[in-house]
Amino acid sequence: MSEVKNYYADDKKQTFYQKYWGGESIHVGIYLNEFKVFADTDSNDDDYELGSFIRDASRFKSNVMSNLIKSYLLTERFTHDSHGNKVKFTIADWGAGYGGTARTLSKMWNGALNLSLSCYDLSDRNCEYNAKINAVEEHSNIAIYNQSFLDIENRWFDIIYSEDAFVHLDDKQLIFDRAYENLNTNGHFIFSDIILKNPDTCSEETLKEICRRINVNTVGSRDGYIKCAETAGLTLCNVIEYNADIKKHYKYIKQFYQENEPPETQDSDILTGLDDWIRHADEDNLTMAIFIFKKDKNIQ
Ligand SMILES: C[S@@+](CC[C@H](N)C(=O)[O-])C[C@H]1O[C@@H](n2cnc3c(N)ncnc32)[C@H](O)[C@@H]1O
Repeated sequence: MSEVKNYYADDKKQTFYQKYWGGESIHVGIYLNEFKVFADTDSNDDDYELGSFIRDASRFKSNVMSNLIKSYLLTERFTHDSHGNKVKFTIADWGAGYGGTARTLSKMWNGALNLSLSCYDLSDRNCEYNAKINAVEEHSNIAIYNQSFLDIENRWFDIIYSEDAFVHLDDKQLIFDRAYENLNTNGHFIFSDIILKNPDTCSEETLKEICRRINVNTVGSRDGYIKCAETAGLTLCNVIEYNADIKKHYKYIKQFYQENEPPETQDSDILTGLDDWIRHADEDNLTMAIFIFKKDKNIQ
């Protein structure tokens, strides 16, 4: 079993991600405020409030991604053909997890646009949960593939997007090579990831501590990803850094988990991993960013 499959196969991890993380997503949320601003409302149930606050930040991140995807999709494309029929746009989510953003995209834009969405994920547990929610909400335009996105061949997507999945892979160049191979000309590669903020000054000890939470040997960086993309033949459109959000995110998740999970079922590995990432976000060793690249032409 691969490390990633193994990581998400664990029952305690599934409880943690489904109950305490972002609900339908396992990414770093985008926070519009500090939690304390809302904590002194009339509600006595602060734990519920914190849970909602975290899920709102997670949904907001999905909204940001969905808006970016739609904006870039429509830069050089027509929504209708010469007969007035809607053009079908093909979009892939690499490392879709529970599929929250694919459903957001489907709900937000599928009336106005004809979207065909493909979710790829290596973890069967995550794919099962994604399929369960899709069935309830009846998203017939979302297909789920329980496989590595590195094994996709010649699918020709208009957009490939991903959220916080590439952090699980050591071979970053291969991700960009596969993205290039599977994008249409004028297609965009839009992804968020957790990266090193200052890779040039990051000590070996720091890198080791960051890596052990998810069993990897390397972590990406802004310049590292730009270099990989250029090597693969992709052109940089933009990078947006969300430094304050990563600092908030792991702290809130830890607080919510500790306040609600009974002490006897709290997982010490989960807590150690969160402590490591809280510290390294605070020390500006880690950050989160959204990257946008374009395939201008087919150079092969
Ligand atoms: C941190 S979670 C993020 C999930 C989702 N993108 C979201 O925003 O909620 C990372 C996901 O990437 C998946 N993943 C990691 N490596 C993968 C690979 N090579 N192929 C497919 N899925 C992968 C994991 O199984 C996991 O579901």
